[in-house]
Amino acid sequence: MNRRTTLPRLLPAPDGGSRARLAYGADYNPEQWPREVWQEDVRLMRRAGVNLVSLGIFSWARVQPDDGVWDFAWLDELMDLLHAHGIAVDLATATASPPPWLTTAHPEILPVTAEGATVWPGARQHWRPTSPVFREYALRLVSAMAKQYAGHPALVAWHVNNELGCHNVYDYSDDAARAFRLWLRDRYQSLDRLNHAWGTAFWSQRYSDWDQILPPRLAASHPNPTQQLDFKRFSSDALKDYLCAERDILRRLTPETPVTSNFMVMGGTKGMNYADWAREVDFVSNDHYVHPGPQDRDELSFSANLVSGIAGGRPWYVMEHSTSAVNWQPVNVAKRPGDLARDSLLHVAHGADGICFFQWRQSAAGAEKYHSAMVPHAGEDSAVFRGVTELGATLVELAPVAGSVREPAAVAVLFDWESWWAGEQDSHPTSRLDYRQEALDWYSALLALGIRADVITTDADLAPYRLLVAPVLHVVPGELAARLTRYAEGGGHLVTTYFSGVVDENDHVWLGGYPGALRELLGVRVEEFGPLLDGDAVAVDGDALSLDGDLTGTLWADRVDVVDPAVEVLAEYRSGEHAGRPVVTRRRAGSGTAAYVGTRLGAEGLAGLLPRLLDAAEVRSELPAAARGRVELTVRRTEDHRYLFLVNRTDEAVTVTGLVGDVLIGAHEDVLTGTREDVPQSHLTLPPRGVAVLREPAP
Ligand code: GAL
Repeated sequence: MNRRTTLPRLLPAPDGGSRARLAYGADYNPEQWPREVWQEDVRLMRRAGVNLVSLGIFSWARVQPDDGVWDFAWLDELMDLLHAHGIAVDLATATASPPPWLTTAHPEILPVTAEGATVWPGARQHWRPTSPVFREYALRLVSAMAKQYAGHPALVAWHVNNELGCHNVYDYSDDAARAFRLWLRDRYQSLDRLNHAWGTAFWSQRYSDWDQILPPRLAASHPNPTQQLDFKRFSSDALKDYLCAERDILRRLTPETPVTSNFMVMGGTKGMNYADWAREVDFVSNDHYVHPGPQDRDELSFSANLVSGIAGGRPWYVMEHSTSAVNWQPVNVAKRPGDLARDSLLHVAHGADGICFFQWRQSAAGAEKYHSAMVPHAGEDSAVFRGVTELGATLVELAPVAGSVREPAAVAVLFDWESWWAGEQDSHPTSRLDYRQEALDWYSALLALGIRADVITTDADLAPYRLLVAPVLHVVPGELAARLTRYAEGGGHLVTTYFSGVVDENDHVWLGGYPGALRELLGVRVEEFGPLLDGDAVAVDGDALSLDGDLTGTLWADRVDVVDPAVEVLAEYRSGEHAGRPVVTRRRAGSGTAAYVGTRLGAEGLAGLLPRLLDAAEVRSELPAAARGRVELTVRRTEDHRYLFLVNRTDEAVTVTGLVGDVLIGAHEDVLTGTREDVPQSHLTLPPRGVAVLREPAP
């Protein structure tokens, strides 16, 4: 976990108030606009309630127009202008996009693909994190920025680079090869240990000199899997190391100013192990974009929840999301009425203390001119800007939640970058495995049942959780197996699935049968993996689960042998090769249990199975029955108060009647409407996509 969380100190509210506030704002790219527009910008920012902007993200070419030539005058003017209008600055170090003069003079900073192609300038982020030349120039810029703005009253946070690894996470250049070798020396100390870890006895790959080692460049067949896994670890570390290099300069020159770097916990962005990166920043910030689809808001909730997990439950910032459409999906649909506010408040519900967008003013030119912004092409007389202004007012009302932390749920979904990386590698039983989707499906099923769950990573304290779901936990080092065993034996209820426990940290198979490291704990044994062909499915006996119909398993169907008398079979296959054999099992382990699910049931199927697992863990929904699945509940707390966020997941009004947790719904104070009925009402109606925030005294 990160050592502490220091949030930006926001400037006093325009009304002079000095209470804690939520941050509200955007990436601000004024270099795209003439000076007159800057005045208009600050006027509209005030109108919208903006109190924070991220400035300078793509300003390198403007701040340093040539080698040794600096131009801060325009940025000084903007810093002063923003400050004069009560708007704080999260100042970027401006290193994200190296200018043409630099790449022309030093093409050796450009990344190289696995195929050996150069990634040329023309877009952005065309730099190698391991390039000493890039570092020299970029870190000089960081120093210059820090010296220029140290002590400036508008400066409240540093924004290192931008979305590190968005476009350049995997670089196969000679610089990368050199840095990879150093990283490997540090990890393995000796070539013997590396040869063992990489299993180089296979295919005659034994190394006799460190210099023989390369990144996994284009090869005749599948590159060595442990080499691939280590290259993923290394690539994440190389970017993290670069983040730390910028951070160290900033901490030295401006020790009072917290440092962040916007992460990308969303969708399929998997190259950066953010659980590990989170320890290096003063506060976590994240960018999130919705990918429209059936689970889109579940995915938003899952991502926000995971960000909260890596932030140790402490507050974090949304540094970018969108007011409406993006420009980089195959079809870029506009957000529907209510989405702008609900998406933002769902992040707040999961611990965000800052809500920012890409970007303030929609560009008239460039690759992102069709990406929405706070001020759209249509101008201030637009639904988007009205929505932005309303949200600004809502966030002012929500000021009391600033600084509150997440209250742990009774259930957690365990998310593990190592299992994501290793589980989806090539030359596996199936290429169809989607690790994040499996985790999301469990999460969606919990949402559908109205169960509040945290998303956590393997370094989290497991003790608060009565039920721990660890889907496709593929990489299980001995120490993790021991922790999970202690968790279950100490009274926890662990659930895991097919393709879990299979390998150790070197991607070596735990021998003796699957699920390897977890075999004893689960009391089952699988001799051969059961991947299914596309379109194939197996029926899972619904009667045993007290369901009306059978469940459907796809992707995978393990032949499961029960090898321990303490195992209870919860469900059997009803069809397929293994008809009549167990597919869901649960073993008593100490005072807890360990359950195994041998097929992929999808979100709907899991919602059918989960009640059996929740019952054993004595976990019940905190929501009244009619609201389950239609409303998401999260809880943030301060020393004095609990804040209950009720988020309408549907497009219709939902009435919540009766108790939420232990308290009658109307007995709470509604933070947004400010009402508190003398005679408590027993219901509350959430408009379509609406959100309520209720406050109650902390017990
Ligand atoms: C982010 C990036 C922004 C902008 C945005 C568009 O990845 O940090 O600069 O490109 O996406 O959605």
